[in-house]
Amino acid sequence: MKVLVTGGAGFIASHLVDRLIADGHEVVIIDDLSTGFQENINPKATFYRMDIRDDAVSEVFEKERPDIVDHHAAQMAVIRSLKEPEFDADVNIIGSLKIIMNCIKHDVKKLVYISTGGAVYGEPQYLPVDEAHPINPLSQYGITKHTVEHYLFLYHITDGLNYTALRYPNVYGPRQYPYGEAGVTAIFSAKMLKGETPIIFGDGEQLRDYVYIDDIVEANILAMTNPASDNHILNIGSGRGSSVNEIFRIIKDATGFSGEPVYAPARKGEVYKIYISAEKAKKVMGWEPKVSFEDGLKRLVEHQRGKM
Ligand SMILES: NC(=O)c1ccc[n+]([C@@H]2O[C@H](COP(=O)([O-])OP(=O)(O)OC[C@H]3O[C@@H](n4cnc5c(N)ncnc54)[C@H](O)[C@@H]3O)[C@@H](O)[C@H]2O)c1
Repeated sequence: MKVLVTGGAGFIASHLVDRLIADGHEVVIIDDLSTGFQENINPKATFYRMDIRDDAVSEVFEKERPDIVDHHAAQMAVIRSLKEPEFDADVNIIGSLKIIMNCIKHDVKKLVYISTGGAVYGEPQYLPVDEAHPINPLSQYGITKHTVEHYLFLYHITDGLNYTALRYPNVYGPRQYPYGEAGVTAIFSAKMLKGETPIIFGDGEQLRDYVYIDDIVEANILAMTNPASDNHILNIGSGRGSSVNEIFRIIKDATGFSGEPVYAPARKGEVYKIYISAEKAKKVMGWEPKVSFEDGLKRLVEHQRGKM
């Protein structure tokens, strides 16, 4: 199949591109390299350096005629969304809407859209959070990511658009941009490998759900290939919360770091504890994470060690 991957120069989608190409598929990438990197781009992919909001995106669809679109390109920093809400909305809502309209116009068989389980639900009323949990985003980023899910629902009904929305947890692994949602793993690993002391904001007992990049890639492959996932919104998570203190301990062991963390005041606007249930993804498309958090962190540390 021919897959158009937006954001294919970024952390997560570049791994997806590598997997698709290894599996023998044709891949086209649209990425403006705003937070992605040329070096992440698989040389076997056709690359268009372009903003998803650009009208020329339509010409790429026209020329390439993808079977499937996997839409990862986004303004993905929660902090930036607080400071520049209009920019966040422009990229994440208007940009996504343009991708959706192109999918409809060019008869794309399926659109896989990437949403966030960490930012759409707000402060959890129960844990683990499932898809039936109320949606109360506490950041502009959470609002814009969720808004697109409504468009998908609508365009499925009005225009027959076929989609799956994946609500990611904190994704971690090689190539991670340290300032994203799950940057703590990449930052701690890089710092401790250099013998530097990491900072923990708050008491370190805040819980997040972490899933290794390979499992995230697998969720996209299933969403593309398993029709049972059509027109569902699916949490992709481990169902387990890990604390920052736990991350510190695991990475400390893996790196051989001998110091202790420095604690600083908690950052504002952060949900204290969230982890999400992926029972629905398991039932609908047979997805569940295979890499344990400990193994995944060790892989991350070894990857970073190899780059030093
Ligand atoms: N990293 C996580 O833990 C996490 C969690 C939940 C959801 N997500 C979502 O996953 C997706 C990928 O995130 P990531 O962590 O790989 O981030 P990333 O910044 O590494 O990747 C995003 C890519 O999109 C590109 N991009 C940004 N704006 C663009 C635009 N206007 N036009 C074209 N390309 C543009 C960037 O250059 C980059 O290559 C995003 O949609 C993000 O919201 C990530």
